[in-house]
Amino acid sequence: MIGATPSDIAIVAVGAAIPERVLTNDEISQMVETDDAWIVERTGIRERRIAADHESVTSLAITAARQALDRSDIAPAEIDLVITSTASPERSFPSISALVADDVGAHSAGALDVLVACAGFAYALAHGIAQIQAGFATTVMVIGSEVLSRITDWEDRGTCILFGDGAGAVILRKGAAPSVEPIAVELGVDGSKGFDLYGDLTPRDGQPLDKCIRMNGNAVYRFATQVIVDSAKRVLDAGGYTQDDIDLLVPHQANLRIIESGVQRLGFPMERTVITLDRYGNTSSASIPLCLDHAWRTGRLQPGQRLLMMGLGGGLAWGTCLIRWMGDPA
Ligand code: UT7
Repeated sequence: MIGATPSDIAIVAVGAAIPERVLTNDEISQMVETDDAWIVERTGIRERRIAADHESVTSLAITAARQALDRSDIAPAEIDLVITSTASPERSFPSISALVADDVGAHSAGALDVLVACAGFAYALAHGIAQIQAGFATTVMVIGSEVLSRITDWEDRGTCILFGDGAGAVILRKGAAPSVEPIAVELGVDGSKGFDLYGDLTPRDGQPLDKCIRMNGNAVYRFATQVIVDSAKRVLDAGGYTQDDIDLLVPHQANLRIIESGVQRLGFPMERTVITLDRYGNTSSASIPLCLDHAWRTGRLQPGQRLLMMGLGGGLAWGTCLIRWMGDPA
């Protein structure tokens, strides 16, 4: 699905939870046969964060949500809906969002989680926008939270070099932008390639449960390099925008080579692209909001800027959203 809708909805705040423990490439090279030079050259990743035993996908989501609220003038009771995307849930229910809503005091909110892996944050954002556009909500908290280290096979060098833990949260608000202009969204999926990247939650095919992420890296790489360009172009067209109208490109942090090739083919400057994978790795649905948090903290986010956010991964799914940032400067 793809479309654009005139709107004054904008993102008004961002928060993050970044675990303290740093896992470097050199440390991984003591666990599997790899080395820092290979990982940096093939992925751009130098280190990633790993959640401590006392941290969970829910506690990281709560920390990010609290920080987003602290950085806004919005009271928790004003939140109408909490949507959390994750690929590493700890349980089927209650949802992470239910526990976040309770913790932050969003007692008037509905709450749900979405499972769309690395495209999940864009899917969650699109659903938040849709609920506001439909008139059912005014303020929506959208979170991406992951503890991928707990579903990583630390003996598989094809995947364990990639992933990291963390969470990011944004607040969407109706009426935040000073004028009405198109918000544009595309959500897509190719389920025929679903098992190129997957993680089981319950036993399948009579086999014991394999809790780890499994990936055909080359197939996902080919999919990602194509869809990142095609989807961005379609979303720009849908909104009536060109590359020049975009202030900041915020791609899912899968692999620096995927991002660089996409950005180059779009004719977009790397200087207007946010990169955090060198320090956080691929944090699945947390990667886009962690980029927004990084951009905010480093003063790159200014009110009125248009952001083009592109998520892609397991499904194989993709989600691209074009929306304005209207938060306070850092
Ligand atoms: O969030 C979305 C989900 N994931 C992605 O977007 C990931 C997409 N895929 C990728 O980023 C890349 O495919 C990888 C980083 C996973 C792999 O990089 P690649 O350049 O596609 O490497 P490759 O799989 O084609 O392997 C090339 C060689 C192989 O050796 P031979 O067969 O040429 O002798 C691999 O066995 O590199 C070897 N290799 C490694 N060597 C050192 C694979 N992993 C490693 C490693 N260290 N960690």
